[in-house]
Amino acid sequence: MRIAIHHREGSYSTQWLQYCKEHNIDCKQVNAYDTDIVSRLADCDIFLWHFHQGDARDMNFAKQLLFSLQQAGKTVYPDFCTAWHFDDKLGQKYLFEAHGIQAAPAYAFYNEADALRWAKETEYPKVFKLRGGAGSYNVELAHNFREAKAFITKAFRSEYAAYDKRQHFLRTVREWRKGSLTFRYVLGALSLFVRRLPQDRLPAQKEYVYFQDFIPNDGFDYRIEVCGDRCIAMVRYCRKGDFRASGGHNDHFEHELIEQDVVRFAFDAADRLQLQSAALDIVRHKQTGKLYVVEVSYCYGVDDDEFMHGWWDRNAVWHDEPFNGINWLIEYAIKQHNNNKHIETKLTL
Ligand SMILES: Nc1ncnc2c1ncn2[C@@H]1O[C@H](COP(=O)(O)OP(=O)(O)O)[C@@H](O)[C@H]1O
Ligand SMILES: [Mg+2]
Repeated sequence: MRIAIHHREGSYSTQWLQYCKEHNIDCKQVNAYDTDIVSRLADCDIFLWHFHQGDARDMNFAKQLLFSLQQAGKTVYPDFCTAWHFDDKLGQKYLFEAHGIQAAPAYAFYNEADALRWAKETEYPKVFKLRGGAGSYNVELAHNFREAKAFITKAFRSEYAAYDKRQHFLRTVREWRKGSLTFRYVLGALSLFVRRLPQDRLPAQKEYVYFQDFIPNDGFDYRIEVCGDRCIAMVRYCRKGDFRASGGHNDHFEHELIEQDVVRFAFDAADRLQLQSAALDIVRHKQTGKLYVVEVSYCYGVDDDEFMHGWWDRNAVWHDEPFNGINWLIEYAIKQHNNNKHIETKLTL
């Protein structure tokens, strides 16, 4: 068995390469950007790439490369079921509906007239989202028809930048004034206006508009990160005076904060969607107590901090022991490869 890994600083690949070294696994570092990447992978069984939603180059072809290799019989991470809907909330609407996963009811329109007709009749507030983005950047509340109309008009008569530097700068200044960031971050955000970044090249968003029902909650969401039979669970508190938790860095891992039904709900969703790994954002309706998924991603944080707080199993039992959630991913891919080999052997006998 030989594993190929695309290496990017700051991504999972550093840990995966280390894992292979420690476990004497035959491993080859590759560059997914090479035009002959497919032939370079000919002698490998497994291909791993932690591609990034903020990098327009990755988003141009990472899924296409991974899924082509999977279709040709290699084990890849992330694979089709795990990644086709990554950074694609619009896609996730149909995915959750098709699988009957309890998710925040979502509405998508592809022309202005239909969207406005719906917006006149619907109840508020609604959550407006672009299909891509992270850290709550492209997520806003529409409190009434007037605000919803403004989102709709922009989607069909103009366009949205996939990455809004102005919004990023203003948010950084706000955080700095609250004392939660140093001035260095403000300077960093300012420098974005003159630097050319991979996220600047992401395609503008237009010709669709997407809303979710706002799920009233107690000011936090759950982030459950599943791989195989294990998961990491945390509560993420919303920013002050804001309905959004993602990107607020107010994450709490104390196991007393996590109810068993949340862990079971996350495993169930990940199983039904056949995900190798999943980071599920879940909110609990404060009146009914029901859980709703608001988003899924294939990858999760790479903070060391994340892996110091114990993990949960399928029976919602918490294990107070050290672990490495990035190693789970490579171990899962190896297991998948070994299982596939087993199936092939059975078929040819
Ligand atoms: N339908 C919803 N109802 C209530 N809160 C929501 C809803 N959708 C998102 N949120 C809040 O907004 C945050 C960001 O939304 P999310 O769709 O996860 O975007 P991102 O991709 O930026 O993480 C979530 O962490 C959650 O706190
Ligand atoms: Mg999210």
